[in-house]
Amino acid sequence: MASTAGTDRLAQLKAFDDTKAGVKGLVDAGVTAVPPIFHHPPDPHDAASNAHAAAATIPVIDLASISATNNAAAHHHQLVAQVKAAAETVGFFQVVNHGVPGELLARMLTSVRSFNEEPAESRRPYYTRDPARRVRYQSNFDLFHSPAANWRDTIFIESVAAPEEMPPAFRDVVPEYTRQVRALGAHLLALLSEALGLDAGYLQRDAGCLDGGPALGCHYYPPCPEPRLTLGTTRHSDPSFLTVLLQDDAVGGLQALVGGGGWVDVPPLPGALVVNVGDFLQLMSNDRFKSVEHRVVAVPGTAAARVSAACFFRPTGAAASSRAYGPLPDLVNPPEAPRYRSVTTVEFLGYHRQKGLDGRSALDQFRLLP
Ligand code: OGA
Ligand code: NI
Repeated sequence: MASTAGTDRLAQLKAFDDTKAGVKGLVDAGVTAVPPIFHHPPDPHDAASNAHAAAATIPVIDLASISATNNAAAHHHQLVAQVKAAAETVGFFQVVNHGVPGELLARMLTSVRSFNEEPAESRRPYYTRDPARRVRYQSNFDLFHSPAANWRDTIFIESVAAPEEMPPAFRDVVPEYTRQVRALGAHLLALLSEALGLDAGYLQRDAGCLDGGPALGCHYYPPCPEPRLTLGTTRHSDPSFLTVLLQDDAVGGLQALVGGGGWVDVPPLPGALVVNVGDFLQLMSNDRFKSVEHRVVAVPGTAAARVSAACFFRPTGAAASSRAYGPLPDLVNPPEAPRYRSVTTVEFLGYHRQKGLDGRSALDQFRLLP
């Protein structure tokens, strides 16, 4: 019985993937029920979430620099303290006055929407599961590995992709957007370095956290006819040092599992960017910083599609396969011991991809101590 069901599921996954039109294609075809390949078991944390959400919120941090020199040191000190508190607890914060122009944020979101709302024939040439392609449009990177598929389509754009490789909707905006977010990433890494008691340049210069530039994952969450049966994104933590996420102003649905207690909304805040600590920073900081699990609930069928763009800071290229990361010796004070073994980001990412989003954190694979 089980193997018949398994064969049937595989056939359904293949049929869906072969359309190369994503979940958007299903919605355009007028589906009124969520196909079984997208069905998720109920989440045990859902019941606890309402009570918990009232108790925990995601902090908003104002990065505006102040010019009055007599206040600059105190202001900087305060900023580091805010970033430290967020990174050590909820693992998420939103930033305002971050330096990336609002007009560029708007153009980035419009590009994601435009690409996904073009006719399926225009999107199809970009649809691939070939990891060697630097621009990859696909529905569910882990479609054939995860226990249940997500109501989401994604286009990944690696930092080394040339504008001509990108769909026309992205060519004019992605290079500028990733350049600006990289500058913000440098600022955030300096604050996070100081929050760990390290030299401000440590994470960028010594650890190479900004090497290779950010990989961009642009997500499209079409409205879903039965949102309670599925998810936009299964719970996971990010295989990055740091992630900077742009979400649209209206729809919402991103939630963080704060303190393991319940799901807390990360509400859309116009003009803000969402920042979260990734797995590599949790590993390097020996669990001082938290790479908090998060998910996206499916968009109700009456709403507009939700769009987001995530910049993942992680090394690419030769550096990624040769350099291993482990808990930083300066942050492991005896009698404490390193809680993780060293691992290259290539090995970590390979494990994350092969495992798929299955509700377990990839970090556990490299953990030495509970
Ligand atoms: C991710 C992610 C959330 C979103 O890409 O890792 O968590 O809002 N995205 O799309
Ligand atoms: Ni994520």
